[in-house]
Amino acid sequence: MLLKVASTISREMQLDKLLRVIMDEVKNVLQCDRCTVFVLDRERNEIWSKVAHGEKEIRFPAHLGIAGHVVTTGRVINIPDAYADDRFNPNIDKQTGYHTQTILAAPMRNKLGEIIGVFQTLNKFEGHFTTEDEETLDAISALSATQIENAQLYENQKKTFDSFIETLASTIDARDPLTAGHSQRIMLYAAELARVLHLSEKEMEVLRISALLHDYGKIAVRESILTKEDRLTETEYKHIRNHAAYTKSILENINFSGALRQVPLIASSHHERIDGTGYPAGLVDEQIPKLSKILAVVDVFDALTSKRHYRTRMPFHEVMQTLSAGIGTQFDPLYVNAFRQIKLNRLLTILEQEHLALLRKSDLTLLEEYDSIDYIAAFQAPYPLEQEKRLILTFQTYYMQQYLQPGT
Ligand SMILES: [Fe+2]
Ligand SMILES: [Fe+2]
Repeated sequence: MLLKVASTISREMQLDKLLRVIMDEVKNVLQCDRCTVFVLDRERNEIWSKVAHGEKEIRFPAHLGIAGHVVTTGRVINIPDAYADDRFNPNIDKQTGYHTQTILAAPMRNKLGEIIGVFQTLNKFEGHFTTEDEETLDAISALSATQIENAQLYENQKKTFDSFIETLASTIDARDPLTAGHSQRIMLYAAELARVLHLSEKEMEVLRISALLHDYGKIAVRESILTKEDRLTETEYKHIRNHAAYTKSILENINFSGALRQVPLIASSHHERIDGTGYPAGLVDEQIPKLSKILAVVDVFDALTSKRHYRTRMPFHEVMQTLSAGIGTQFDPLYVNAFRQIKLNRLLTILEQEHLALLRKSDLTLLEEYDSIDYIAAFQAPYPLEQEKRLILTFQTYYMQQYLQPGT
């Protein structure tokens, strides 16, 4: 039984999911109604847990309640009748409507013997918790401790890694005021496409990092050329195009592991075209990674919808027409079609990211019902219906940023 528990929990690296898996296993093995794993946060001297089936996190000072008692004393607590025991706090039952009868709580220790959390099980189905249950819980707790510590370590490292990648992306965006926020938006659009396409979590992660870093090679492009307002000469244009190859060679120096090893290739192939006339490698259709094909679509969408110099945004139907025109030469049809299915409220919240607070909730709710296929259909309708007019008007107000002008 312990081997089965060990193998089940060893498969989970994400802290949230891991805790849930452990709680389920314990309930099964001990034949009881509830199990909560509390984790000790030494820095804040608090105990926290995700409530068994609710999403909310609970947090309290590390000396309170049964769990606090276990943390303080380091001893197992086995209570056959909760309401007859003064360590038990009946207020929580009052708030939740639950009726606690029996409690078994045990400390969770790491390899150094330090307490890192508490297991608390409630309401044994038959009778009360036995000495054997105590031993079983102790064994499961020992098994879980290492895995929980690893998951915490992994989570912390991931936070460091993520903030590092985001910082790199913002250094690129900061170099060119014309494309401010570009990498961030590409990442958000790509995530929307990934949702439409039901990509796996792993693919989404590779896509997210690749999107944030896709133009990193611009670090090697001279600023005078990057920000030049006049027409570029042929040589200057070639120099800018080099950014894709630079993205690849720079990112190859990062020691990515696992699925993230594909990041340099995926990030640097965002200017490839399926007809083979793109750069840096001139790959054709099936040679181009699918995540790069996604980046290609969202990269062009963002370029077209950004305000360059003094221009206002290109009208939305023209943007969508430009994407359609690229199907079969520049873009893989699959990803343009997926892009068309992104709901308009989600597009707007990325387009107007800087003014999120000004987007009216009721408008977003209206736009949630439509994607850009609906928009184009309404836009081209010779006799648009009332609701079609409303859709166009609502979207346009934000898209053309009329809502930012005084008096509108
Ligand atoms: Fe680029
Ligand atoms: Fe780009």
